[in-house]
Amino acid sequence: MTSIPEFSRRPLELADDFAPGEINFMKVEDFSFFYGKKQALHGINLTIPSRKVTAFIGPSGCGKSTLLRNFNRMNELIPCIRHEGDISIHGTSIYDPSVEVIALRRRIGMVFQKSNPFPMSIYENIVYPLRIAGERNRAVLDEAVERCLRSAALWEEVKDRLHESAIGLSGGQMQRLCIARAIASRPEILLMDEPCSALDPIATAKVEELIIELKKEFTILIVTHNMHQASRVSDLTAFFYLGSLVEFDKTQKIFTNPAKQQTEDYITGRFG
Ligand SMILES: Nc1ncnc2c1ncn2[C@@H]1O[C@H](COP(=O)(O)OP(=O)(O)OP(=O)(O)O)[C@@H](O)[C@H]1O
Ligand SMILES: [Mg+2]
Repeated sequence: MTSIPEFSRRPLELADDFAPGEINFMKVEDFSFFYGKKQALHGINLTIPSRKVTAFIGPSGCGKSTLLRNFNRMNELIPCIRHEGDISIHGTSIYDPSVEVIALRRRIGMVFQKSNPFPMSIYENIVYPLRIAGERNRAVLDEAVERCLRSAALWEEVKDRLHESAIGLSGGQMQRLCIARAIASRPEILLMDEPCSALDPIATAKVEELIIELKKEFTILIVTHNMHQASRVSDLTAFFYLGSLVEFDKTQKIFTNPAKQQTEDYITGRFG
C-alpha cells in the first residue's frame, strides 16, 4: 500500500498577487475521493483564482482527471464513488442541497482529450446546449453560433459551411468546435482534460492561443502531460503525485525554482 505523503495535508498558500477576492474563486478543501475501496485523491487543498489558467500536471494515474471531473460532479456518473471534504465556487459548496447538478454543469463547461462532436451540423453542435436549455429564438441561436465560433477562433474557417456535418472537420477544427460548444451556455469555468493530446503542433498552437484568449472571460483548469504547454498557457500549476498535491504555485516558480525535489524531478523528465 502506498503511504500518503504528509505534504498533502498542508494548505498551500498562493502568492499575494494571485490572492483571490473574497468570494471570487474556487476552493478545494481537504478533498479525498474514492472509487469503491480505491482512494484516488488524498486530502487536497487548493484555491483557484478566477480568470486565470491553472494547470494540473503529474504522472499518469496521479488523479488529475479525477479532481477535474469533481468540479462539475461528472464523477457521480460512476457507480460506488464517494468523496470527503468540499469543493466550493464563490463560497458555495457544489454539494450544497440547493445546487442542481444540471445547473452546475451549465456553469462549468468541459472539453475532453478526444474531441466529441455530435453527428450533426456545425451549427447544431453549438446550439445544442442552448436548445436543451429551452432556447428557441433563431436570432439568439444565430448570435451564439457566431460568438462562440469567433471565440474559438473557428469562425473564419467554417462560416460558409455551418450547416454541413461537424464530422467533416479536421481533428484540430473538431476540438475547437468542442470548445465553442463548451462555451455556448456561457459558463464561468472551463475544464479541459488534455485538450491537445490528439492534435498536431499547428492545431495545438491554435488551441493554446485560444486558451490564453479565453482566460479573459473564463476561469480555466487544464490537465496536460505537455510541460511546455503548461508553462506556455498557465498562470498557476499544481503538481500531483499518487493522488496527493505536492506543490502549487505560480507556473513560472514551478518551472524555474520548484520547492520540492519531486516536482523538479517530474518537470525535468526524471520520472513520469
Ligand atoms: N472509473 C474509475 N474506476 C476506478 N478507478 C478509477 C476510475 N477512474 C480512475 N481510476 C483510478 O484513479 C486513479 C487516478 O486516475 P485519473 O484518471 O484521475 O489519473 P490521471 O492523473 O488523470 O491519469 P492520466 O494522466 O493517465 O490521465 C488511478 O489509479 C485510476 O486507476
Ligand atoms: Mg487523466
